[in-house]
Amino acid sequence: MPLHLVDSDKNNSFFDTYAESAATNSIPKFKIAEEPNDPTVIQDLLIDELLLDGNAKQNLATFCQTDLDPQIHYLMDKCIDKNMIDKDEYPQTAEIENRCVHILADLWNSPQSADTIGCSTTGSSEAAMLGGLALKWKWREKRRKEGKPTDKPNIITGPVQICWHKFARYFDVEIREIPMEHGRLLMTPEEVLKRVDENTIGVVPTFGVTFTLEYENVKAISDALDQLQKETGLDIPIHVDAASGGFVAPFIQEDIVWDFRLPRVKSINTSGHKFGLSPLGVGWVVWREKEDLPEELVFNVNYLGGNMPTFALNFSRPGGQIIAQYYNLLRHGRQGYARIQQACLDHGIYIAEEVEKLGLFDLLYDGKSALPGAAWMLKKDINPGFTLYDLSDRMRSRGWQIASYSLPSNCEDMVIQRVLIRHGFSHDLAQLMIEDLKRCIDYFQKHPVTNNSDSDESNSFHH
Ligand SMILES: Cc1ncc(COP(=O)(O)O)c(C=O)c1O
Repeated sequence: MPLHLVDSDKNNSFFDTYAESAATNSIPKFKIAEEPNDPTVIQDLLIDELLLDGNAKQNLATFCQTDLDPQIHYLMDKCIDKNMIDKDEYPQTAEIENRCVHILADLWNSPQSADTIGCSTTGSSEAAMLGGLALKWKWREKRRKEGKPTDKPNIITGPVQICWHKFARYFDVEIREIPMEHGRLLMTPEEVLKRVDENTIGVVPTFGVTFTLEYENVKAISDALDQLQKETGLDIPIHVDAASGGFVAPFIQEDIVWDFRLPRVKSINTSGHKFGLSPLGVGWVVWREKEDLPEELVFNVNYLGGNMPTFALNFSRPGGQIIAQYYNLLRHGRQGYARIQQACLDHGIYIAEEVEKLGLFDLLYDGKSALPGAAWMLKKDINPGFTLYDLSDRMRSRGWQIASYSLPSNCEDMVIQRVLIRHGFSHDLAQLMIEDLKRCIDYFQKHPVTNNSDSDESNSFHH
C-alpha cells in the first residue's frame, strides 16, 4: 500500500503527530476547518505555536501573576465548569467569593469587615468601573436631593492607568487627571484641592502607580479633603486604586495608612491576579460599609433559579480564579504573603543597587518604599551609545522583557526603564538579569547605535 494511503488511525503504528495532514498542511487561519482533526495533533500544534510567545518568568514588565502552585492548576481544572454568576447552582463558590471579600475588607481595616459588601471582578479594570459607578450614583443622589444639576460630574486622579480613562469616557464623567511635572510625579493634596468642586464625585489616588511603582499619599489627600470639608462643607469621597498595593502594603508596609482606617476612603479595588498571587482573571472591589454601595446599582435576577443580587459588568464568568484566590489566602496566610512580598521587594532593591553601580543610570524608584521593583533613567548629558529602547530590545534576545516607555504628560521627555518583581523570581535570576544587562551594555559600547533619542520612539509599558 502506498504510504499516503495508510490509514493513520491512532491505533495504527503509522500514527505520528507530525506526519498527520493537519501538521503537514497549513492550518486554517481565517475560516473554520471543514473536517474534524485528531485532538492530540491539534493540541500539539497549538502548544508548538505558543512557544513563540514570551517566557512568563522572564517578563519583568507585567504586574500579573504567572507562577502558580500545582494545586492551583488542579483547582482550576476542577472548577472549569463553574459559572460564578450562577449562585444558585454553585452556592459554595458564591460563599467562597463572599469569604474573600470579608477577608480583604478585614485586611484593609473596614470597620464592618464581616458585614460589608464587595464582589469579585475580572480584574482591577472592572473593579475600578464599579467603584467609579458607585461614586457617581452617590453623588447624583445627593445632588438630586439638594435640587442641584447632575449633568457635569468630574473625577480627580493622578497619572492613572488606562482603566480610569475608560471609566470616564464610558460613563460620561470628566476626568481631571493631575499631570506629572518634573520634580513631582504623583498626585499631591495641593493639586487635588486646585481641581475639586461641587461636581467632584470622588478622588482616586493610586496605591502603586503603574508608571513608577510608587504609592500616592492617600492619608495626606484625605487630610486635605477633611480640611476642605471643614472650610466649605464639600464632602468628597475617596476610592483607592490599589490594583497592586492592596496585596502588598497590608503585609509588609503596615504603617502606611491608606485604607479604610481613613473614614473618607469609601471603596478600594485590587487585582487578585497581581500580588494577590491568583491566576489571571480575578479582581476585587470592596466598600467600606454597605451604605457606600447604592442599592440601585444591584440587579436581582431570578432566571437561573433562586433570587440573586448581582453587581458586575459581566454576567457569566469562570469561578476557578475565586477558588484559587481563597486557596492562596488559606495557604499563605498573613505570614506567608509577608515572606513572599518581602522577598520580591528585596530583589527589586538589589536590582536597583546594581543598576545604580553601573554609573550610567539615575534611579527613579529605588525599590524600597512601595511595590517590588525598580525604575531608572539614563543619566542626562551622557552618550552611552544606546537608548533605553535599544537596551530593552537587546535584553529581549536573552528572553528578558523589560519595559521602557516615556512618562505621560507633562513629562513625555522622560524615558524610563522599569522592572517589576513578582512571586516566582529569585536572587539567582536577579543576578543573571544584571549580568545580561551588563553584557548588553558592553555590546553597545563596542557597537554603538546611532539612532534617534529615546523620546523619538514610542514603546508601551505593560500592566
Ligand atoms: C494602578 C492600576 N489600576 C488598574 C489596573 C488594571 O488592572 P487589570 O489589569 O487587573 O484590569 C492596573 C494594571 O496594571 C494598574 O496598575
